[in-house]
Amino acid sequence: MTILAKQPALGSQFDEKSVHTVTEEAKGVVLNGEFSLPKEVPHNGFTTPAINSFGHSFRNYDAESERQKGVEEFYRRQHINQTYDFVKKMREHYKKLDEAEMSIWECCELLNKVVDESDPDLDEPQIQHLLQTAEAIRKDYPNEDWLHLTALIHDLGKILLLPEFGELPQWAVVGDTFPVGCAFDEANIHHKYFKGNPDFNHPAYNTKEGVYTKGCGLNNVMMSWGHDDYMYLVAKGNGSTLPSAGLFIIRYHSFYPLHKEGAYAHLMNDEDRENLKWLHVFNKYDLYSKSKVLVDVEKVKPYYQSLIQKYFPAKLKW
Ligand SMILES: [Fe+2]
Ligand SMILES: [Fe+2]
Repeated sequence: MTILAKQPALGSQFDEKSVHTVTEEAKGVVLNGEFSLPKEVPHNGFTTPAINSFGHSFRNYDAESERQKGVEEFYRRQHINQTYDFVKKMREHYKKLDEAEMSIWECCELLNKVVDESDPDLDEPQIQHLLQTAEAIRKDYPNEDWLHLTALIHDLGKILLLPEFGELPQWAVVGDTFPVGCAFDEANIHHKYFKGNPDFNHPAYNTKEGVYTKGCGLNNVMMSWGHDDYMYLVAKGNGSTLPSAGLFIIRYHSFYPLHKEGAYAHLMNDEDRENLKWLHVFNKYDLYSKSKVLVDVEKVKPYYQSLIQKYFPAKLKW
C-alpha cells in the first residue's frame, strides 16, 4: 500500500474525539426478522437464525442498556454534525482519491485493523464479516458473482477510521445514513437529535423535498457522509465494472430509513426501485451471516481475487 497524503484538515467538528462505542450495525432498530423479497429477485432460501454468536437476538440493544446509551450518544453526535455543508466538504475532499494506492485485497487486510468492539452481533475481525457475508450469499446465489464481490467490499470504506485515511470520528463513518438537504424523516433512529442540526431550521433544507425534486433519483441526493458513500466514490472513481445494483448496495446499505422503513421513497426513480430489490436481498446477509464459524481466508482468497480482477483494476486510488 502506498500512502499518498496526510490526513485532511477537517474543521472544528473534529475536535470532539471519536465515540468508540458504536458500529455501522448499531442502528437500534428492532427487527422483526422478516424480509419480503421482491418477486423479480430469486430467493434461495437463506434461513434467518434467531440468535447471534453471543446468544442474543440480532440488533438487540435492550439486552445491554449501557451499550444502548452509547448508541444514543453516537446518534446525537451524528445527527447534530451531519449537515449539508459538512457532507459537501467531505465528498469534495475524498472524491479526489489521493489518500493512498492499494488493491482491493490489500484494503480487506487493512480493514482488519478496525475491530468493532461495540457491535452486539460481532466480535470477529472485519475480514471475517466481509467473507462470511460474501460466502453466505455465494451459497444461495452461486451465479451472481458481482453480488459476492459486492459483499466482500461493502464495508471497506470503514478505513476512514484509520489514521492514514483521516481518522474520522465514528459518527462520520458508521451508523445509519440519511439524505441531507431535505427534511429529516421521522423514520430516522433517534430523530429528536436532529433538532440540534443547523439544517433543521434552514428553510432551503427543511421541507419534504428540500433542494431535490420528486423522483429525482438517489444519485442526485446527497447522503450523510460515511463508509458507504466513500466506497462508492472509490469504486466509481476507479472505473469498476460492477453492475448498477452492486454500486447501489455499496452506496446505500446503511440507508435503513429507506430499505427498512420505506422512508424517502419519493426521491427514488425507476432504476433505484429496481436496485432496491437487490439491496433487500443483500441486507439480510449483511446482518445475519455473522457467526463464530470462521471462513478459511486462504482457501477462498483465489476465488475472490479472480472476481476483483474481473471488476476492478489491480491497484486502486483511495
Ligand atoms: Fe457497512
Ligand atoms: Fe456490513
